[in-house]
Amino acid sequence: MQMTHQTPRVRLDRRTAGELDADLVVVPAFERDTFADVPGLAQASGGEVLAARDRGAFSGKPFESLVVGSQGGGWRTPRAVLVGAGPAASCTTDVLRRVAITGALVARQQRFRRVAVLVRPGTAVPPAEAAQAVAEGVTIANYDGAPLKTADHDPVWLEEAAIAGLGDGEALAAAVARGVVLGEATNQARTLANEPGNLLTPRIFAERGAALATAAGLGVEILDEARIAELRMGLLLSIAQGSHEPPRLLVLRHEPAGAVSNITLGLIGKGITFDTGGISIKPAENMDKMKDDMSGGAAVIAAMSAIARLKLPVRCIGLVPMTENMPGGLAIKPGDVVTSAEGKTVEILNTDAEGRLVLGDALWYARQLGATHLVDLATLTGACVVALGKTTTGLFGRPQTWVDAVLDATKRAGDRAWPMPIFDDYKELLKSEIADFTNTGGRAGGAITGALFIKEFAGDLPWVHLDIAGTAWAEDAKPYQPKGATGVGVRTLVQLAMAAPGWAGAKTA
Ligand code: BES
Ligand code: MN
Ligand code: ZN
Repeated sequence: MQMTHQTPRVRLDRRTAGELDADLVVVPAFERDTFADVPGLAQASGGEVLAARDRGAFSGKPFESLVVGSQGGGWRTPRAVLVGAGPAASCTTDVLRRVAITGALVARQQRFRRVAVLVRPGTAVPPAEAAQAVAEGVTIANYDGAPLKTADHDPVWLEEAAIAGLGDGEALAAAVARGVVLGEATNQARTLANEPGNLLTPRIFAERGAALATAAGLGVEILDEARIAELRMGLLLSIAQGSHEPPRLLVLRHEPAGAVSNITLGLIGKGITFDTGGISIKPAENMDKMKDDMSGGAAVIAAMSAIARLKLPVRCIGLVPMTENMPGGLAIKPGDVVTSAEGKTVEILNTDAEGRLVLGDALWYARQLGATHLVDLATLTGACVVALGKTTTGLFGRPQTWVDAVLDATKRAGDRAWPMPIFDDYKELLKSEIADFTNTGGRAGGAITGALFIKEFAGDLPWVHLDIAGTAWAEDAKPYQPKGATGVGVRTLVQLAMAAPGWAGAKTA
């Protein structure tokens, strides 16, 4: 198998656009742009930039692009790519990140290895945020989703990326370094989530996660089926029993000296390496996509690794319950009742509602290990895709202060999310005649009842559930997002850990 991603050397560059020495300069272009702050661009392109605008070939609409020659005005770099960034006034950090991805992807398509990204004045984005976002963008662009092709596939990798227009200095350099780590982590998660189910079984997923985590300096433990049974994790075991592949529970620990006192962030990711639905089997159409049903787990592994690399001063525990969901002679059946590690009983009405089951035992275990604040990430429900579509993650939780802290993190990360209600009324839908509750509440409010099931295992802790069923996988290629796994949630979790002193209301020990 070939490589899926490489990290370019990213640095700040003080030179003007004309002096930059690269294969391609990426220039964000705003709507009705005159490029007054980019001296020489009009001449450099031999008038092509303004001519294209006048004939309506390029208007600066978000993420459209136009490659022009740039030596006419004596630019050192022979070509520029203009990337639409919309109106300057509404150009956010998120837009800038996507502009950088788009420009860097154009560079790779044209088989260039050295880019420079020009950050222009006129937007409200603070310089450090811009530096980090562009560093994230060029790193995220250095990803290849087809490492299993053996013919007619020869990806070009970016080797160098300069960020111009911001100046330099220690704070900006630190922002660039952070951005590179966040971009790399996003790519690690994408690599795992793109992996076919036969090549990423629970045992292999655990090994791969452990290797990434060890390299990042995390504490790592893999609980096997015997240990999982000892802990009486009846929910995780009930899903695993239908498969020949044994389950795993990956436990990652970040315990830095001098951490913010009194808090331990618990991150839990759904790790179903393939979801057939079990005996409540899914239709054949699109079932192949269910290899990405471990995207939440991949995000937790990648985020924990980034948190360790960045040496963030906050204790974190990462938990990923890993199993296949298969039909088979030993599989659980609709109507079966199983007992969770916490002792709660569940009537399984639909074996395809497996994510909430494996997460239930994992949330309980996070509490046993001392977590004080919980976030879980899961490709949990088709209902969430119906409600919010493919670009917005469903966010559920309590109390409001914790919901707000996570929501803020999603904004800084560029992972769009929207709050959903978890009113107690919905709990009735999970009522069982014979057990504490069922595992499905029917079609109405399906994303909400899924969240309410998980909430049963959060105890009294602040808890947020992110339903990434729609956002984990891109069906249509966009200029800034090729088809396949997106790495959604990775940067959110790291941004949340970065903001810990704020939401913890605690002092550093
Ligand atoms: N992994 C699926 C959810 C999913 C569906 C993710 C589509 C991505 C795209 C999950 O395990 C599932 O099957 N959920 C069921 C729940 C239902 C049986 C209550 C669903 O959404 O249909
Ligand atoms: Mn399912
Ligand atoms: Zn699933």
